[in-house]
Amino acid sequence: MPMAAVTALQGLGHHGDLRPGQRVLINGATGGVGSFAVQIAKASGAEVTGVTSTPNLDLVRSLGADHVLDYTTTDFTRGGGRYDLILDTVGNRSVPDLKRALAPGGRAAVTGFTTVARLLGVSLRGGKDVAQVQAHVTTRDLELLSELIEAGKLRPQIDRRYRFADIPAAIAYLEQGRARAKVVVAMASG
Ligand SMILES: NC(=O)c1ccc[n+]([C@@H]2O[C@H](COP(=O)([O-])OP(=O)(O)OC[C@H]3O[C@@H](n4cnc5c(N)ncnc54)[C@H](OP(=O)(O)O)[C@@H]3O)[C@@H](O)[C@H]2O)c1
Repeated sequence: MPMAAVTALQGLGHHGDLRPGQRVLINGATGGVGSFAVQIAKASGAEVTGVTSTPNLDLVRSLGADHVLDYTTTDFTRGGGRYDLILDTVGNRSVPDLKRALAPGGRAAVTGFTTVARLLGVSLRGGKDVAQVQAHVTTRDLELLSELIEAGKLRPQIDRRYRFADIPAAIAYLEQGRARAKVVVAMASG
């Protein structure tokens, strides 16, 4: 949680505090970052749309999303929906694509990229509306996340569990980019 949930928190807060009722879209809503982002955005009172693939639609709903979009059938940048904030954890969209899906005054924050070209696109053409977010763990944010956890508003979803000796297999699974939320490595033996 310290890395992925802090990334979600700082991505969602990069352009200012979330306000209740704001329309927030999470691209990659079932990933390590996205699965926390859906829950944190909901806890802030936002109206949350999660983008994922067909097998994961129910998982995104169970995380609390108000709306789910299947990227295999729907392009969120062309569907007519407009969002006050887009948190893109996938980083597979161009800056013009992201801007097309923003409401007037809306902003986007991107926490990762599928290609160097996408990273350069955001760095060079993003301007103030589409920003790359590099998370830095702070005590304040960890305390805030602890409060959400204790209040039952934030819960890690566990996809797979691996033994310590099987860390290479865990990494190989993560690298496929299909993890459903979190992958856990057991540190204790037995
Ligand atoms: N985890 C961290 O602590 C952390 C911290 C900082 C930055 N980052 C960066 O943030 C990015 C995301 O990290 P992550 O850990 O969340 O990744 P991840 O857990 O590997 O994300 C996998 C998820 O991405 C979804 N996905 C794949 N293609 C998609 C598409 N075209 N549209 C929408 N969703 C898609 C997959 O859903 P489907 O199976 O449904 O396709 C899967 O649930 C990476 O670039 C990473 O380097 C991660």
